Amino acid sequence: MAGGEKELDEKYRQLDEIIERYGQQEGQLIRILKEAQDIFGYLPEEVQTYIAGKLDLPVSEVNGVVTFYTLFHTEPRGKYGINVCLGTACYVQGARGILDEFRRQLDLHGGDTSADGLFTVKSTRCVGACGLAPVLTVEDEVYGKFRRQDVARLLRKYRRREVTAGDQRAERPDRYPEETAPGH
Ligand code: FES
Repeated sequence: MAGGEKELDEKYRQLDEIIERYGQQEGQLIRILKEAQDIFGYLPEEVQTYIAGKLDLPVSEVNGVVTFYTLFHTEPRGKYGINVCLGTACYVQGARGILDEFRRQLDLHGGDTSADGLFTVKSTRCVGACGLAPVLTVEDEVYGKFRRQDVARLLRKYRRREVTAGDQRAERPDRYPEETAPGH
């Protein structure tokens, strides 16, 4: 717990630096919010209030900017952002059912982020790949002609990626002796 608090203190310290750097200049609120989001991962109410206080602005003004730009998030986000396109072409090809299937399999009731913090599922408008409808994206990767039956496989793929990343870290020390000892 104390570790968490320390970490939080450090984040606010970094935020203070940003505010000090840009706070006196006109029109830097968006930049400050963007940097704050990089530090905290999202912009919870406390952080918005803190920034408003430091800049001597009404909280409503800061909140207005945060909610206006889709760039900003007010809730923690999963490591992988899944965006299911609900544009017309995708919708008529069953995108709604795909979105529901993700929510069901990840047990998302109310929120958008899975309990393990891995996935945030949202809908989006046309991503410009209608020929591949129904389409979804996972971070920068685009998946076209997606079917409801593919949902479980996709989730498995990213979960496996996590496990593999963990394994590699764990295995690396053991590999070095093999690689550096040819002929033995
Ligand atoms: S409607 Fe989904 S990509 Fe265009």
